[in-house]
Amino acid sequence: MSLYERIEKVRAFLAPKLPVRPKIGLILGSGLGVMADEVEGVQIPYGEIPDFPVSTVEGHDGKLVVGTLRGKPVMTMKGRFHAYEGYSLEQVTFPVRVMKALGVDTLIVTNAAGGINTDFRPGDLMLIRDHLNLTFRNPLIGPNDERLGPRFPDMSEAYDRGLRELAKDVAAKLGISLREGVYAGLLGPSYETPAEIRMLRTLGADAVGMSTVPEVIVARHASIRVLGISCISNMAAGILPQPLSHAEVMETAERVKDTFRALVGGIVEAL
Ligand code: 6GU
Repeated sequence: MSLYERIEKVRAFLAPKLPVRPKIGLILGSGLGVMADEVEGVQIPYGEIPDFPVSTVEGHDGKLVVGTLRGKPVMTMKGRFHAYEGYSLEQVTFPVRVMKALGVDTLIVTNAAGGINTDFRPGDLMLIRDHLNLTFRNPLIGPNDERLGPRFPDMSEAYDRGLRELAKDVAAKLGISLREGVYAGLLGPSYETPAEIRMLRTLGADAVGMSTVPEVIVARHASIRVLGISCISNMAAGILPQPLSHAEVMETAERVKDTFRALVGGIVEAL
C-alpha cells in the first residue's frame, strides 16, 4: 500500500471515533504529556491504530488524545516516535500526515532539549526560531506524492513568524519568560560530547535534541503552520560538571509542567 493509501486508511479508521474535527495538532515531548490531561475527548492508544508504530521510551505514554482544549478542537500525541528507537522517518512522521488528513492546519511541537546557549538554565522554555537538521536524513527522501506536498518544500520560515509573535504575547500576558533560539536536531540516542556541543554552538545552535526536525519537515511539506517549544531540561555536555541523565530530563519537565501547561494552553486559547 502506498503512503497516501495508508494515511487514508488511518484517517478512515480514526474519523468516526473522534468527537471533533481537529484543527490544532499537539506533539508532547518527554515529560510534557500532562498537557493531554486537559483535553476533553477520546484517548486512542497507538497500539490500537492500524499502521501506527508503538512508542517505547520512559516518559512517552503512547496515545492520541483528540477533543477540545480551551474551546479548540485538538489532536494530541502523548508520546512521539524517535528515529533512535529504530523507526524510519516515514514512521516517525506518519502521525503528522494523519493529522493533516483529519483537518489539522496548525501544529505545536514540543520537546525536552539540552541547553547549549550558556545564558540558558534548566527549566527555561525556548521558542524555536529555526532548526538545524543534523540527522543527515530527511523524511521526504523517495518518490514524492504531489497529493501530499511539493518535491522541494520551502523551509525559509519553518517556524511560523505569526505564531511565534502570538506565543510571545501570550507568555508576556501570563508573566512567563520565554527564550528564543535555534534547535539542533540529532539522531541520538547517546548525548553529545563536549566537543560536539562546542561545534553545535559555533554552528548557531542554542539547544539540542533528538526529535522534532523530521515532524516539522513533514508538516511544512503538508503546508501546516508550525510552532515549536523546547523545555530546556538540562545543560548540554561540558557546560556543567555533572554527567547528563534521562532522570534529570524527566525531573525538570516535572518541575516546569504547570508553567508549560499554562503557556501551551494560553497559546491554544489564543489561536
Ligand atoms: Cl544534551 N542532547 C540531546 N541530543 N537531546 C537531549 C539533551 C541533550 N537533553 C535533553 N534531550
